Amino acid sequence: RGNASPAKCTRQEQRWRSDHGIVDARERFMQAYGRLRDDLVGNDSCELTDEARRWLAQMIDYNVPGGKLNRGLSVIDSYLLLKQGSEVTEDDFFLACVLGWCVEWFQACALLLDDIMDDSHTRRDQICWYRRPEVGLRGINDGIILKCHILIMIKKYFREKPYFLDLLEIWSEIALQTSLGQMLDLIGTHTGADDLAKYSIEGYRRIVKYKTAYYSFYLPVANALLLSGAKLQDFSDLKDILIEMGIYFQIQDDYLDCFADPNTIGKALGHADNNQIEVLHKNYGKKDSSSVSEVKRTYAALDLKDIFSEFECRCYNHLVTSIEAQKDCAAREILKSFLKKIHQRKK
Ligand code: FPP
Ligand code: MG
Repeated sequence: RGNASPAKCTRQEQRWRSDHGIVDARERFMQAYGRLRDDLVGNDSCELTDEARRWLAQMIDYNVPGGKLNRGLSVIDSYLLLKQGSEVTEDDFFLACVLGWCVEWFQACALLLDDIMDDSHTRRDQICWYRRPEVGLRGINDGIILKCHILIMIKKYFREKPYFLDLLEIWSEIALQTSLGQMLDLIGTHTGADDLAKYSIEGYRRIVKYKTAYYSFYLPVANALLLSGAKLQDFSDLKDILIEMGIYFQIQDDYLDCFADPNTIGKALGHADNNQIEVLHKNYGKKDSSSVSEVKRTYAALDLKDIFSEFECRCYNHLVTSIEAQKDCAAREILKSFLKKIHQRKK
């Protein structure tokens, strides 16, 4: 089904689907988690010792299921919308859960490794995995294992499907895009005060597009599209809008970090005068509390709050217009459900 054949959804169907989706999907999604984790831990292809299996189970439990699960659940939501009220069997629902958990596994891997690179202390209200005394840099290997698990799950459940190759392609493409986005971020953000001039809005957009938008917004929907039998090339508009939303989401994220995120520098520089740039120059990128508060004070003086509200409004209106222009009903509903979750979010 491409944009050329708009299908009508009745209001009743949508309500049923979203009620069903909210109440039931999360519980069924969690049940699928237990099954997938046990399969991976029990997998006997590698002669694992009992001690190794305990490590693996603990590592997965610690890193994978503790987030908001928005990305994983959005595979299921999008899939149900694409099915347009036609029957979804238990087996199909489970397959949507598998792909949803693959996205959560991907996110767990990315965050585990990112925390090591960023020298972070906490993640999802707990100590970062690598900061646990028994883990340390062994955590790098755990990140690699999580990444390998995705392929194991996809091969196990989708090998015989006609879209198997498309799945492999989209996963490897987005893994590369995310890693390159992370590389752009690492190169661009942590190079010291002398490189302050290198920050720009275009550079910032490029970083967040690749390191966040593809895997957080497009990947769940691309998986739902393939599962529903669609061809990804028929939904290029949907992809573009999701990427735009992903960029908007990450800008919110950096803003919500109370201007503490280094990426805010790009936005701040566009509005700062020479004195303010000088202050940023001296204090930016340093971890001590006085430098941090100097940077925050400058951000506050730049009225970033007003600038942000104005940006949010403009961005929202542009997204609404683009969504309304979509001919495909399911595509519109998917986009609306994403937008609803992120618009003016406070956390
Ligand atoms: C968090 O950013 C990090 C990411 C969104 C992506 C990190 C990507 C990698 C480590 C590459 C992973 C590759 C694969 C194949 C999974 P942040 O540091 O701005 O956010 P934070 O404040 O939540 O740490
Ligand atoms: Mg980080």
